[in-house]
Amino acid sequence: MITNKKLLILPGDGIGPEVMAEAHRVIDWLARTGRAKFDIAEDLVGGASIDAHGIPVTEAVIERAMEADAVLFGAVGGPQWDAQGFANRPEIAILELRRRLGLFANLRPTQVFDALIDASPLKPEIVRGLDIMIVREATGGIYFGEPRGIETLPDGSKRGVNTEVYTTAEIERVACVAFELARKRSGRLISVEKANVMESGLLWRQTVTALGASQYADVQLSHMYADNCAMQLAKNPRQFDVIVTSNLFGDILSDLASMLTGSLGMLPSATLGAADASGRRHALYEPIHGSAPDIAGKGQANPLAQILSLALLLRYSFGMQEDGAMIEQAIANVLASGMRTADILQPGTARIGTRTMGDAMLRELDKLAG
Ligand code: IPM
Ligand code: MG
Repeated sequence: MITNKKLLILPGDGIGPEVMAEAHRVIDWLARTGRAKFDIAEDLVGGASIDAHGIPVTEAVIERAMEADAVLFGAVGGPQWDAQGFANRPEIAILELRRRLGLFANLRPTQVFDALIDASPLKPEIVRGLDIMIVREATGGIYFGEPRGIETLPDGSKRGVNTEVYTTAEIERVACVAFELARKRSGRLISVEKANVMESGLLWRQTVTALGASQYADVQLSHMYADNCAMQLAKNPRQFDVIVTSNLFGDILSDLASMLTGSLGMLPSATLGAADASGRRHALYEPIHGSAPDIAGKGQANPLAQILSLALLLRYSFGMQEDGAMIEQAIANVLASGMRTADILQPGTARIGTRTMGDAMLRELDKLAG
């Protein structure tokens, strides 16, 4: 019996709802053409939730996310919520979802579309064929470590504190995800930390090394300091296949890696929890671009990262490899035909808006489905 797949859609703020609307049309297309049956719920997060409920994510939304087979997330934040107290910022929504659902493995694939090679700030010969998978730890490290806070010192000045902390178990579980991915890809894994200055980095290196020796001897493991990794990403990005790193370094390095492709507006991500005995795991999929308040509501945003996030969701959470591949192919075809949103516009291509890009996607999907 085919059971309906439970999907929670959280569009969020800024361009989130606009790009999500186009992903939603692709979901409707999948349902209409009989590829899957979905039970879809939609709810508020981020600033939209602050406006409605006073907090960036409600307990009800967390519970819905836990019950869902997968969550498709848009983007959160905007200047109208800048005055919120630190603990009540829109961004708390994504951090809370990661923490409460135990989404410790943030997968950030960086691939260059051939049609967009000239949009990269690097030379074509440096980025052609680029295909990197960054596995970023997402529920630990300095984002969540205690103690944290801002305290007032006796002389009236202040002291801000955050703590980078990792346990063996936290390192092992994210490293396992990275080793498994490396096995399915090139067989190479680079682990990134600052073992030269941080004890948590030294433990990271020791733990990954031991795990590699005991369980993944077939994977070629090497180590790199995070600063060197940033330099190498700009200098010779194709030396990388799978990278595994901490929450903070992963945040920074994935932004750098994404820009190598020419557009932040093109990249999806998946954040996964641990699989239970039945193989089911919590999972959230989101574009790595933010809410882009400057262009929100103008119909200009690029919906492709949101649609690629949907393709990842189909692959990882629903085992729908073929449908995921078809969506990715449709995107490549639309780009090759010269249709571009403003962020990836190049000489000789046609500028179109968010909705027109969605229309082009559906036409292409119809063609591919024959
Ligand atoms: C990301 C974002 C988030 C992070 C913010 C919005 C909290 O930058 O997903 O990379 O720092 O993790
Ligand atoms: Mg980031």
